[in-house]
Amino acid sequence: MEGILDELDGETVIIDPERHTPNDVYKLMVGAIVPRPIAFVSTLSAAGVRNLAPFSFFTAVSANPPVICFSPMVRASDGQRKDTLHNIEATGEFVVNVVSEEFARQMNQCSAEFPPDVDEFAISGLTPVASELVKPPRVRESHIQMECRLLQVVHVSPKPLGGSLVLGEVLRFHVDETLFDDFRIDPGRLRAIGRMGGPIYARTTDRFEMPRPTPADFDLEAAGHGG
Ligand SMILES: Cc1cc2nc3c(=O)[nH]c(=O)nc-3n(C[C@H](O)[C@H](O)[C@H](O)COP(=O)(O)O)c2cc1C
Repeated sequence: MEGILDELDGETVIIDPERHTPNDVYKLMVGAIVPRPIAFVSTLSAAGVRNLAPFSFFTAVSANPPVICFSPMVRASDGQRKDTLHNIEATGEFVVNVVSEEFARQMNQCSAEFPPDVDEFAISGLTPVASELVKPPRVRESHIQMECRLLQVVHVSPKPLGGSLVLGEVLRFHVDETLFDDFRIDPGRLRAIGRMGGPIYARTTDRFEMPRPTPADFDLEAAGHGG
């Protein structure tokens, strides 16, 4: 193991990312940060070509105003930025479509590294539908679609597998009414999927409840925090 792993400390493998290849560090991150929701991002190029690609380095940042972020990384294959990022920087607009189990296969097809003139709606057979406030189309098959305006791009690293953080304000939510109840989303109908490491995905059909506690639920004195 010497020379491969930095230090073997009993049961814990301690890893200094600077001493390992970006690909190994990437594997570590995508195995550790799980499950990740998937932003299925539609954009238009400056020339008007449609683009659709999945991104699992994705989360919410703010609810007031509603802001989401995701991260297109620099391609490991050729060191180039992805079409999605080019398009967003050129147009300032995108749509994030939530991915459900029923069109997971088509979503995956859109992750192939096609040249910029290829329309992934046509490749996958997914249906483009006009947005209200932005030019990129939504994905009809998606139960929740978010029309976004670019707020900021933070280029974290230009190296292969380096990322850029794209922050977008949600201008419109489009929610399938069969899974909408007073602003609550029915996860059993949404059937969102999450990405694990490599080609592994997680379903959201096995759930459990755990109400969030308040400080009154604890005996703070017994925990050494009494006055
Ligand atoms: C489920 C899934 C999640 C992905 N997440 C990311 C991601 O977070 N960042 C990234 O750069 N690429 C990610 N990819 C790979 C991109 O989808 C792929 O590079 C795609 O070709 C980019 O398309 P574009 O060049 O049209 O933007 C993911 C692929 C899949 C299947």
